[in-house]
Amino acid sequence: MSTPRIRKAVFPVAGLGTRVLPATKAMPKEMLPVVDRPLIQHVVDEAREAGIEHFIFVTGRNKGVIEDHFDRSVELEENLKGSGKAQLLSQMRHISTLANFCYVRQSEALGLGHAVLCAQRLIGDEPFAVILGDEIIDAPVPGLAQLIHAYKKRHGAVLGVQEVPHQEVNRYGIVSPRAMTAGLHRVEGLIEKPAPAEAPSNLAVIGRYVLPPEIFPILRKTQPGKNGEIQLTDALRELAKKSPMYALEVQGQRYDAGDKLGWLIATVEFALKNPSLGPDFCDYLQNRMRPSGEHRTTRSRKA
Ligand code: G1P
Repeated sequence: MSTPRIRKAVFPVAGLGTRVLPATKAMPKEMLPVVDRPLIQHVVDEAREAGIEHFIFVTGRNKGVIEDHFDRSVELEENLKGSGKAQLLSQMRHISTLANFCYVRQSEALGLGHAVLCAQRLIGDEPFAVILGDEIIDAPVPGLAQLIHAYKKRHGAVLGVQEVPHQEVNRYGIVSPRAMTAGLHRVEGLIEKPAPAEAPSNLAVIGRYVLPPEIFPILRKTQPGKNGEIQLTDALRELAKKSPMYALEVQGQRYDAGDKLGWLIATVEFALKNPSLGPDFCDYLQNRMRPSGEHRTTRSRKA
């Protein structure tokens, strides 16, 4: 049986970013940089590498700068060209080419389920991906590509999951799993942010989904749930009653970069892996961790 290709991905980016205030008071949290790429570009690159061609952003107030980031900046390009910075110029052009970006406005923050529903007209009648920009996955095979691979084999909705500490289940959608093969589970139910005592497992949905268009009529009927929001998790629970749904344990290192500590950890890890910054930054950290009084800052360098 052949499965339709996953060509489109929805990026819900209308959230207020309250976990990183005041940095996000006037700037979208999706534009917080992790080393030299904003969070949103990390997940767009992941989607691109997984074969996505249409990028649908569900935006809200104060998010215009995301559009600017993925648009061409002719003035900047001319400047880089004039000053002979060919490599930077090609990087800037790469951001705005190769893909089709569309924007739809979520006028009220009514929840993740509502955000996905806002993209219905742009998705139409085909399966699609949803990617949450808070979570960055560093993996040899991009997180979304792992889900798409499972989707092609199983022909059903696939949710990316990872185990989380039991006391943290109340921060995630948690699946009720039936093990099938190593790392793949049939989803028998889901619950949004349960108390640890009510959680059916510690397998948490980590912001990566491959969904059929049948989710839309369900979302349309979904009533506000946890925190008074229309929850994608509640609609997925209904979908799982009607058609097969799978939870795939995503291989890779995940960072919750929409949280201050998670963002700091992601920044340090990506900086250490960066070929031009890593060695100097590593020296700096090693010096910095020496007993107090002994550390020195690394040499300063001009850009
Ligand atoms: C959302 C989803 C939740 C999922 C989480 C992953 O919650 O509702 O099911 O586990 O993303 O990051 P949020 O973090 O937006 O409250």
